[in-house]
Amino acid sequence: MTSDLALVGAAYLVAAILFILSLAGLSRHESAKLGNSYGIAGMAIALIATLWVVGQSAGAGQWVAIIVAMAIGATIGISLARRVEMTGMPELIAMLHSFVGLAAVLVGFNSYLDGQRDAVHLVEVFLGVFIGAVTLTGSIVAFLKLSAKISSKPLMLPGRHYLNLVAVLVSVGLMVWFVVAPQLAPLLVMTAIALAFGWHLVASIGGGDMPVVISMLNSYSGWAAAAAGFMLNNDLLIVTGALVGSSGAYLSYIMCTAMNRSFISVIAGGFGSDGTVSNVDVDYGEYRETSAAEVAELLTHASSVVITPGYGMAVAQAQYPVADLTAKLRERGVDVRFGIHPVAGRLPGHMNVLLAEAKVPYDIVLEMDEINDDLADVDVVLVVGANDTVNPAAAEDPTSPIAGMPVIEVWKAGEVIVFKRSMNAGYAGVQNPLFFRDNTAMLFGDAKERVEDIIKAL
Ligand code: TAP
Repeated sequence: MTSDLALVGAAYLVAAILFILSLAGLSRHESAKLGNSYGIAGMAIALIATLWVVGQSAGAGQWVAIIVAMAIGATIGISLARRVEMTGMPELIAMLHSFVGLAAVLVGFNSYLDGQRDAVHLVEVFLGVFIGAVTLTGSIVAFLKLSAKISSKPLMLPGRHYLNLVAVLVSVGLMVWFVVAPQLAPLLVMTAIALAFGWHLVASIGGGDMPVVISMLNSYSGWAAAAAGFMLNNDLLIVTGALVGSSGAYLSYIMCTAMNRSFISVIAGGFGSDGTVSNVDVDYGEYRETSAAEVAELLTHASSVVITPGYGMAVAQAQYPVADLTAKLRERGVDVRFGIHPVAGRLPGHMNVLLAEAKVPYDIVLEMDEINDDLADVDVVLVVGANDTVNPAAAEDPTSPIAGMPVIEVWKAGEVIVFKRSMNAGYAGVQNPLFFRDNTAMLFGDAKERVEDIIKAL
């Protein structure tokens, strides 16, 4: 038995190392696939070792229940993952985070009902249920906002920061009560408060700031899993939860820096926006329309081109013709590069994944900071389905809901061609003065079709 436990411990250690290698691999495009494989291998080892532990301690009968549960979960997971569009990933991720939260709540209640009453364990149960409940409802609201089932406008309750503070203080009081006199009542009351708190925290955040919320919930789901690990005495769950929690927190921090938001205010919820949405009605003057043939003509005379893709490229699945166009222009000696905004699209790294899928060489795909200084010397910028991430109002209009967010300064280039279907606003609901600038021309229509038209005309 002791040697079996040592074997399981060793398997957990190997799994934990594979998870760390996986995170390291995922940090660069070139090694992302390998990172994924490490993660899958680590998870397979973890599952086998855990099933072994269960078989040893609770008898093989438990295996049947677990395997049936896993089969049901895997069937749902595989069918969802196969059907989901790349653009629907954030919603799916938000939904999956809510399951982690729910699991932590259930493990917490189960752990309490099991009857162990020492103070440390009670604190673990209380914190696990609290974090789990906040993650559960926070993720559900994120899911509803991202899938446009509820408005993405921030909910502005009067005294919202005080409400959050009161929720935390009352929960601390309930924890003291729960540890001193363990009963179900304080646990139940805190669960109700935490569910409302999670809901309010995310409901107070405006649409434009959702990228940060997703990574923040990712972090919370990690801490919820770590808390479940403490309750279940499972070292691997603690390590894995801590890895997810800390990498999610770090990602939130990077996102906050990229969007010029305060990290502390994000954690506190309801930051950044005062509830004002859009300047759609502002009169920016006339816009100029162009055609695929004119753009092809323009590109024939260009020596440097930058492509800034956004969510519309993902919707149109235009990455393949964009890659073809890039190859054609490069064959003709044109210097083509990509400028990628950190929150372009709907999930971190969205554009990089699409471009890698279409086999665009990594070395011409640059980050916003790397491309911004060069834009003044670029002949043509092709804005393919991007909107908020190239909006000059973020830099120039302090009243804009996206004010302060660094953007790709495409307007500095010689000519800017914007690919989109209409004059509609982007995700943040803000009109874009870029479309009305003298050096901007609009190429209306589906981005994939328009890029294909340009290739034909070249
Ligand atoms: P957005 O501001 O979302 O604008 C995308 C544009 O693409 C729209 O204006 C739309 O205009 C156009 N479009 C849609 N379908 C198209 C098609 N088939 N062909 C051509 N154009 C099409 O894009 P962005 O610049 O990538 O900015 C991302 C936004 O999402 C930011 O506000 C960001 O904060 C937010 N967000 C990001 C994330 C992450 S983590 N990346 C997560 C959640 C939210 P038409 O309708 O006129 O075609």
